[in-house]
Amino acid sequence: MNEIPMRMALSTAAMLLLALASANAAPSAYEGRGLYVSYCLVCHGTGGKGDGPLAQKMAIEPANLTTTVRSRSDTILKKIITGQGRQTITGRDRHNLLSDAMPKWHEVFSEEQLDSLIAYLRFLTRKQHDLMGDPRVGEQLYQAYCQSCHGEEGDGNGIMTDLLRINPMDHTNPNVTNALSNEQLLDAILNGKGRYMPGWKGILDQKDAEALVSYIRLLSQ
Ligand code: HEC
Ligand code: HEC
Repeated sequence: MNEIPMRMALSTAAMLLLALASANAAPSAYEGRGLYVSYCLVCHGTGGKGDGPLAQKMAIEPANLTTTVRSRSDTILKKIITGQGRQTITGRDRHNLLSDAMPKWHEVFSEEQLDSLIAYLRFLTRKQHDLMGDPRVGEQLYQAYCQSCHGEEGDGNGIMTDLLRINPMDHTNPNVTNALSNEQLLDAILNGKGRYMPGWKGILDQKDAEALVSYIRLLSQ
């Protein structure tokens, strides 16, 4: 094979792999939270209620996202966030979008980041338990101590799963995680559960466990 077709074949293979990788990556409320904290919290507030530190200084109140986002489709939310096509929003969806006080985030976020942001806005709308620790700390602990059984993505498909023939909890299923209170999750993490879920007391402290609980909540899709 001469060099150029070879290179083309290689780059096609690389593109295919990239496409596969991004097709697999589900929009993650965890990623979205990171973006939200950096770009949106100043106005919309920690919990999305429109009470961020900048809100007091603004003539127009930032929307309470925990009530407004529920009825909006992803397409409409993308228009609102990027500012691209906001003026084309009509009918019922038009309400409270008349001002430019909401910045236009055109070209700030990739399509994938927009999906993640929206996943986090939806999380804020339907969350049943408060986040209690820093999920960024939780993410690091999770990858260090939990993914061998619970899987890198938290879906219960870790390396050990087949090996041990065990069924670790699927942390991406909100029906499963929402059924447990923060206290129940903390207890399972620190003291263990059943035969194969180890207790981490002595290795992890209360604060570590709280960070893990927040991370687990954000894995729900
Ligand atoms: C400078 C302050 C400010 C920042 C930063 C900001 N917003 Fe807003 N946002 C507003 C204001 C003000 C409104 C209400 C606009 C109006 O009433 O016309 C709004 C409205 C919205 C709405 C519409 C709510 C609805 O459904 O009616 C969404 C969605 C939204 N913002 C998401 C975001 C996201 C996501 C970010 C971060 C990427 C963000 N905002 C950053 C000020 C801000
Ligand atoms: C050796 C494999 C293994 C490791 C490592 C592991 N888990 Fe588990 N985990 C399990 C299994 C198996 C279950 C299901 C237990 C049951 O219901 O019998 C489980 C269940 C859970 C539950 C649900 C408990 C409940 O009350 O139903 C939580 C929460 C949890 N794990 C969190 C974690 C966290 C956080 C880590 C890392 C600090 C971790 N696990 C590490 C195997 C593991």
